[in-house]
Amino acid sequence: MIIPATAKNILKVAAHLCTGGIAAFATETVYGLGADATNDSAVAAVYDCKQRPKFNPLIAHYAELNELSYDVKLNPNAELLAEHFWPGPLTLVLPKTTHSRIGALASAGLSTAAVRMPAHHVARQLLQAAARPIVAPSANPSGRLSPVSAEQVYYMLQNKVPYILDGGLAQEGLESTIVDLTSPIPTILRLGTITLALLQQILPNVKMANLNNTKTPKAPGMLLAHYAPRCGLRLTIDNPIAGEALLTFGDSPVPKGFTQVMNLSKAGDFKEAACNLFTYLHIMEKSGASRIAAPLLPEESLGQAINDRLRRASAN
Ligand code: TXA
Ligand code: MG
Repeated sequence: MIIPATAKNILKVAAHLCTGGIAAFATETVYGLGADATNDSAVAAVYDCKQRPKFNPLIAHYAELNELSYDVKLNPNAELLAEHFWPGPLTLVLPKTTHSRIGALASAGLSTAAVRMPAHHVARQLLQAAARPIVAPSANPSGRLSPVSAEQVYYMLQNKVPYILDGGLAQEGLESTIVDLTSPIPTILRLGTITLALLQQILPNVKMANLNNTKTPKAPGMLLAHYAPRCGLRLTIDNPIAGEALLTFGDSPVPKGFTQVMNLSKAGDFKEAACNLFTYLHIMEKSGASRIAAPLLPEESLGQAINDRLRRASAN
């Protein structure tokens, strides 16, 4: 059930989470499917609801830094990134403390945990009221498109989630950037709207992970085909067939032959494109497109993060 994020409803959902329930809520990146990170059976319900493999750990969310630093060990790099980007669309992977409240299931048995302080006022108020770490993977069935609105969560999960706290359209539109700080060289495991260039301004030695290294996968979830529309997606635009939809960017001429055309940003604005990406893919999936054609964007700035999502969407 979609419910507006009134103060009363936020308290109701917080109480529901604290008694072992699951609920979806708005964040600035994508909607999350929340559960009490300290309660293994609540966390198991999240894995079940999403049909997510249990080897793929979840992100624990916090309203306050002192709560977060109780559960994971901050280091100087973490403190620098926290100061610049929290609350905001950044997730850090850090060693768990010996007394960490993050349960074994939430971190998939690893000695590290992914943590984030979201900026969205609904997420913050909910986390403050729950006063404990809340796991929140994206609120979609595993492998499908991430949701950026309450309606998209409902469309994909229906009544498997008792409450969906509506906080409007997620403004960032892409999942958080994930940086692994458990080894000396800070390593980006997933790009979101915090770009490589922004991170390099704070940590000049930060680098992209080699996610093709299947022997020692760094982010267990990053090897999977992901963010995929059900109709399939190709990264080329040649020989369109009837029924195919085109997802384009910028002001280049639109080839003929596509049944539907949507432009992520006519002005060529990456931020606008990131914000529109999942919504447009959802619309195309729902409209019955036989397949989506989506050429890659320029491989610069936020274009890199958007291209990562498009490549994964085309991987099936
Ligand atoms: O923006 C976001 O991060 C959203 C919102 C709801 O906060 N959440 C999200 O969660 O995208 P999820 O579960 O869809 O993606 C979490 C990613 C997965 O790829 C997982 O493998 C990785 O984080 N991860 C979690 N814990 C990890 C750890 N200890 N080490 C490495 N990667 C980890
Ligand atoms: Mg996800």
